[in-house]
Amino acid sequence: MSNRKMITAALPYANGPVHIGHLAGVYIPADVYARFQRRLGKDVAFICGSDEHGIPITIRAKKEGVTPQDIVDKYHEIIKKSFADLGISFDEYSRTTSKKHYETSQDFFKTLYEKGKFTEEVSEQYFDEQANEFLADRYIVGTCPNCGNENAYGDQCEKCGSTLSPSELINPKSMLSGNVPVLKATKNWYLPLNEYESFLNEWIIEGHKDDWKPNVYGQVKSWLNDGLKPRAMTRDLNWGVPVPLPGAEGKVLYVWFDAPIGYISFTKEWAEKNGKDWKDYWQSEGSDLVHFIGKDNIVFHCIIFPSMMKAHGDYIMPKNVPAFEFLNLENDKISTSRNWAVWAHEYVEDFPGQQDVLRYALLSSAPETKDNNFTWKDFQTKNNSELVGIFGNFINRVAVLINKNFDGVIPEGDINAPELEEIGFKATEIKNYLENYEFRNALTSFMNLARFGNKYLADEEPWKTIKTDLEKTKNILFIGAQIAVALGNLAEPFLPFTAQKIYDIFNVKQMNWNDIENSKVLIETGHKINVAPLLFSQIEDDVIEAQIQKLEQTKQNNKKTNPNATPMKEQINFDDFTKIDLRTATIIEAEKVEKADKLLKLTVDTGVDVRTVVSGIAESFTPEEVIGKQVMILLNLAPRKIRGIESQGMLLLTTKSDGKLSFVTPDDQVENGVEIG
Ligand code: 2FM
Ligand code: ZN
Repeated sequence: MSNRKMITAALPYANGPVHIGHLAGVYIPADVYARFQRRLGKDVAFICGSDEHGIPITIRAKKEGVTPQDIVDKYHEIIKKSFADLGISFDEYSRTTSKKHYETSQDFFKTLYEKGKFTEEVSEQYFDEQANEFLADRYIVGTCPNCGNENAYGDQCEKCGSTLSPSELINPKSMLSGNVPVLKATKNWYLPLNEYESFLNEWIIEGHKDDWKPNVYGQVKSWLNDGLKPRAMTRDLNWGVPVPLPGAEGKVLYVWFDAPIGYISFTKEWAEKNGKDWKDYWQSEGSDLVHFIGKDNIVFHCIIFPSMMKAHGDYIMPKNVPAFEFLNLENDKISTSRNWAVWAHEYVEDFPGQQDVLRYALLSSAPETKDNNFTWKDFQTKNNSELVGIFGNFINRVAVLINKNFDGVIPEGDINAPELEEIGFKATEIKNYLENYEFRNALTSFMNLARFGNKYLADEEPWKTIKTDLEKTKNILFIGAQIAVALGNLAEPFLPFTAQKIYDIFNVKQMNWNDIENSKVLIETGHKINVAPLLFSQIEDDVIEAQIQKLEQTKQNNKKTNPNATPMKEQINFDDFTKIDLRTATIIEAEKVEKADKLLKLTVDTGVDVRTVVSGIAESFTPEEVIGKQVMILLNLAPRKIRGIESQGMLLLTTKSDGKLSFVTPDDQVENGVEIG
């Protein structure tokens, strides 16, 4: 077994915060595994970062009316903080817009190019002539050929769930301009995945039948049975890592080419800061590469990325790819767009100091082999009955009784007591489960040791024996203290904040896993301990009810929401609103702008001044029609040049059902320059 563990967790898209589905299905299990491997004394690199390219980012930016860079800057910070708050112990959490990542992914691409691993193919892609951009599949809408849904996307119909390609859509339209896109030839670089089929068959289908999870193995097998096709590794987009070849202007690396290379780039960043050699982790047979991912990422981590690494030639293959299924919330699919989620950053705010409760609840319902469900009631029961009632209760009673009856000094006891056998036994059992990626079984085994300790105290009743049999009581509390310290140590991968509290109470240092397996005495007679604060507290019904109500409110809001309407932009606060200077104004002159079918040059009396505004209304109004119209103007919009004319402000317009524009005007004629708000 190798001494090095290169552990990665799927890079979350920086287009929104993380929720409990992400945590239960990737990040908490990965963290448990990384912490556990460190405790075995392994040389661990646990690496992650934000996935900042790709269509999910640009779509979010368009929705919020900001740039993709604004989006990733905002969510990278939120996600990074949530992970830190929840104790996810990444050695490095970086981002795919980092300089090192651009260099690493471009070098990787160049190596494949120079080795002749790509094929060049010219294909016809949809192009928006007005926006002057090729359209990603998600940016094309039209009618689904299967169910008639008029709002199907170029890659998928969300109504009937069918996978589509843009050419299948009836009446395709560009989401950028609303225009009908045209087909235009473009050259891209493809990785012929079909050439890697025999390698993948041998490595996975023959080599990992018994040690990879059946869901992962099964999915790979079915992809390979269907046969692989060449896949484009570059795209005609303007957000991403530029393709580092002459003549490839306006093209970027496919996001699924650049993102997994992020694992390598971020390892390099970490290695440089810590005096390590990144190659020891990625290019040495002495290293085990393990990818933690959700089930929707299997093909990318088991087929595409390994083929890329194989083509490159210098990299090791993953030892395992433990992919999780999905977590539902209150029996409904978690959905960012429907806001049906428990957001990590909101949990941290609503339950301060209770990170381990969430870690415990999510691990115990981790969707390991099939989709699973999170409910707030279950969360409450797990806290109140298991963490408070069993684990916390046991630790607290041991510490309080030692403090009260023995001045906080560990009394003498039988180092050969049979109860102490249970410690090593459980440490080994948990180890075996974790090595096998069975997180729920490992957690149950841990909790069974707490149950064992709790029952031992309940049976022996040291609070009674103290009055009759001092020697016996000493022995009970000596044994209790060993189990308590063992529990602190064994809790650490799962519940790191609680483990630290137990170390503080018993005034001990964390031990290696092997030492817990092999020694029965973990805290010596005569050792002085500290006072014991409560580890967990009851979560009352009203707290749970408030969370359920929050979800109920979401349900109500979703019912009221028109699914065809453009979703609401991000909320702004009142201060943001007061920055907007809206006024009444009157158009006093109007003329067409030369060689621009859509534009009129308007002279507008704003009551403050008379200024020029260029407006895209020429297809809806003639110049004569608009002279004398009272309108509303956004007065303090920064001026910008349109067709060489400086436009100073913007008129408020809306679109009628026939597609023509209409001015937003006051109900009655008012003076120019009156503020609106
Ligand atoms: O599915 C996702 O959320 C992707 N951002 C995961 C990327 S994992 C990796 F390959 F970088
Ligand atoms: Zn459909």
